[in-house]
This record gives sequence, C-alpha cells and structure tokens, in this order.
Amino acid sequence: MSTSKRLVLSSDHAAIELRQVIAKHAESLGFTVDDIGPKTPESTHYPLHGKAAAERVAAGDADLGIILCGTGQGIMMAANKVPGIRCGVCADPFSARMTREHNNANMLSIGARVVGESLAIEIVEAFLGADFEGGRHATRVDMIEG
Ligand code: RB5
Repeated sequence: MSTSKRLVLSSDHAAIELRQVIAKHAESLGFTVDDIGPKTPESTHYPLHGKAAAERVAAGDADLGIILCGTGQGIMMAANKVPGIRCGVCADPFSARMTREHNNANMLSIGARVVGESLAIEIVEAFLGADFEGGRHATRVDMIEG
C-alpha cells in the first residue's frame, strides 16, 4: 500500500452515497480520511467541490484526493485547474493504477453514474495501492507542469 496516508474526499450531489462508501473503505485500508462533503443531497455545483478538494492536496493538507460526480468528468476538470494537481478520471482499475505509476496523479475522479460500488472499490484500491515509478515518467510529468 502507498505510504501516502492522508486522503481528502469530495463530490457533488450525484455521488454522496458512493463517496461515503469509499470513505469507510479507505479508512479500513489505514488512510486518514478528510471527507469535505457535501453532507446533504441538495443539488450543488461540482466545480466548487473539485476545487476545494484540489486545494487541500495542492496545499499539502492531503497526500491524495478522490473526487466524484455523476460522470467524474466535470469535477476532474475543475480539480485540474488548481496548480500542482494531476487528476485522472478512471472507470477501471488498470487505468487507476497506471495514472499513479506513470502520471503521478495525486487525485482520482470517479463517475458515480458510470461505475457500481464494487467496481468503484476496486478502482480506489488500485489507485491507493500504487506509487509513482519516476524515471522516464518523471521527465514526462515535468513536461505537463511546464
Ligand atoms: C450533475 O447532474 C452532473 O452534471 C454532474 O454530477 C457531473 O456528471 C458533471 O460532470
């Protein structure tokens, strides 16, 4: 399992239940989880929640972040606007592992209307269990950062 232990979670209204399942699972894996909501199911705006979680990661308050919306797309786009954030949206465990190992992603986005609970857990485990390989991949990640 990764040595990164502080995990921030957020979502919009489309993913509250799955986010809570992921929070419990990440805690069972030994992560300290900062679930920044929202707690209630009213319709809300995914850019607010993607930005809030991304700012926690960028500030060093969390090592990794997992964010969710209906598709995972919009909240991922919002997170990636925060400098220092590399967030991949994943609907399969292989991509989730590779986005850590090759892209040094520090955030994962999941679509709660795309994947079911069991697959989401596999995706989360793949992401949290992987580490950046560095080497030639570091050169490429540095090029993303400009
Ligand atoms: C909300 O209906 C939905 O648009 C949002 O959760 C997300 O899928 C956007 O990318």
